[in-house]
Amino acid sequence: MSLGRDSTDIPRIGFGTYGRLGEAGVSAILAALEVGYRHLDTAQTYGSEAFVGEAVRRSRLKRDDVFITTKISSENLDEGKLVPSLRRSLDQIGVDHVDLCLIHWPAPNGRIPLATYMHQIVEAQALGLTRLIGVSNFTIALLKEAERLIGRGRIATNQIELNPLFRNTKIANYCSESGILVTCYQPIAQGRVSGHPVLAPIAARHGAAEEQIAIAYGLAKGYAAIPTSSRVERIRSNFAATVLRLTPEDLAAIDAIVPGARSIDPDWGPDWD
Ligand SMILES: NC(=O)c1ccc[n+]([C@@H]2O[C@H](COP(=O)([O-])OP(=O)(O)OC[C@H]3O[C@@H](n4cnc5c(N)ncnc54)[C@H](OP(=O)(O)O)[C@@H]3O)[C@@H](O)[C@H]2O)c1
Repeated sequence: MSLGRDSTDIPRIGFGTYGRLGEAGVSAILAALEVGYRHLDTAQTYGSEAFVGEAVRRSRLKRDDVFITTKISSENLDEGKLVPSLRRSLDQIGVDHVDLCLIHWPAPNGRIPLATYMHQIVEAQALGLTRLIGVSNFTIALLKEAERLIGRGRIATNQIELNPLFRNTKIANYCSESGILVTCYQPIAQGRVSGHPVLAPIAARHGAAEEQIAIAYGLAKGYAAIPTSSRVERIRSNFAATVLRLTPEDLAAIDAIVPGARSIDPDWGPDWD
């Protein structure tokens, strides 16, 4: 395993595995691998880690050909808990390392100091349990503090809610300027982009679906995107969005959509930008 420290080898299209459970989950993840996805996004809280591992084994792809991300849950951020929890995740997946390990959420209500868990995730990387490290749902202030603690250039990505209806512009721009890859979760706004008055005509011009335009938007911005679906035809069409090339006019029209509300906004979450 080579210790990667930047985001250049993160495949820009990934398959989300929230809700992909049991035999149906394995089938969907396997279908994603057969369609061409090479990046699987799981988390300790999703319950999908074992099914990710099972699908990778059934695919007969080489371990190194699939990029696997997992995320540390908030209950494993206390001193001494993160590394053992990641070892349990590796056991669940059936691998000796993941490619990317993320802090899933900053500690709820700031209950645990950032230093406590950022140092532990660095330790996990030094132990070879993950090639890259990153964060999710971090604000600009938290990213700055995290980089002050562990050094600039260490955080490969910040996984955040981002789609044409909620572009999360401040944090996304900060990440892009700081060399931190944005990974878009809910890249198709859980299907709410269908029939949107700005997206529908763009989709029609490209002979595509609005969901494909939403994914292509994130990719055109230089972000990674991790849509999920339980249905093979959608798994395939979401992946096919990678070949769409939006025009500057398309991007400007999407950038002008009046942003809607954040969809995932727990009361214990950070003070968003
Ligand atoms: N870091 C975090 O805090 C965080 C939070 C949320 C999500 N995530 C990650 O991001 C991934 C994606 O987010 P998400 O699952 O919430 O949202 P999403 O990918 O934007 O949307 C998934 C939903 O849209 C439907 N869908 C998928 N493709 C479609 C298509 N082509 N046309 C119409 N509907 C379609 C799916 O239903 P069907 O199954 O019926 O197709 C599903 O209900 C998750 O799986 C997870 O890995 C991370």
